[in-house]
Amino acid sequence: MLRAVCPGSFDPVTHGHLDIVRRAAGLFDEVVVAVGVNVSKSRLFTAEERLAMLEQGLADLANVRVEGFTGLITAYCREIDAGAIVKGLRSSSDFDYELPMAQMNTHLTGVETVFVPADPQFNFVSSSLVKEVASYGGDVSALVPDFVLGPLTDRLAARRASG
Ligand code: PNS
Repeated sequence: MLRAVCPGSFDPVTHGHLDIVRRAAGLFDEVVVAVGVNVSKSRLFTAEERLAMLEQGLADLANVRVEGFTGLITAYCREIDAGAIVKGLRSSSDFDYELPMAQMNTHLTGVETVFVPADPQFNFVSSSLVKEVASYGGDVSALVPDFVLGPLTDRLAARRASG
């Protein structure tokens, strides 16, 4: 039984994330999408909202489940007996950022990281750019699932209103 973890903040989930998880689900027996819920970081969406959006986007995949985690990803992988971490790579800068983390994680517990190249149509897509563009009224409807669009617009408007 090969279990892999796809970790991230998913604030919010994009089509790029969903594509990587779907492809990981074809490579491993089970994929656990692990949502970082460390309280120190400020997020647009709560952990519960991010989990619910992922669950909606991945509901058709029988071998995928969504969980929250805190602390080190290596400790979480041990806890759930996952032998691999899956990360999507959009660019060489993603690789430069991810490589030391992958090596550190292998150093810590032996867990391997598997890099999956992003579908080129999603190369420019990140949660942070989606939020920035949407906050100025830009059209991000092709970049996130429909069920993310409404909450995204509403939350950004609420944030604007509260200063
Ligand atoms: O989507 P993000 O923000 O790039 O996801 C970041 C996440 C949650 C994957 C990353 O911050 C993480 O793995 N955090 C857990 C803490 C940890 O293990 N840090 C050491 C990495 S070598």
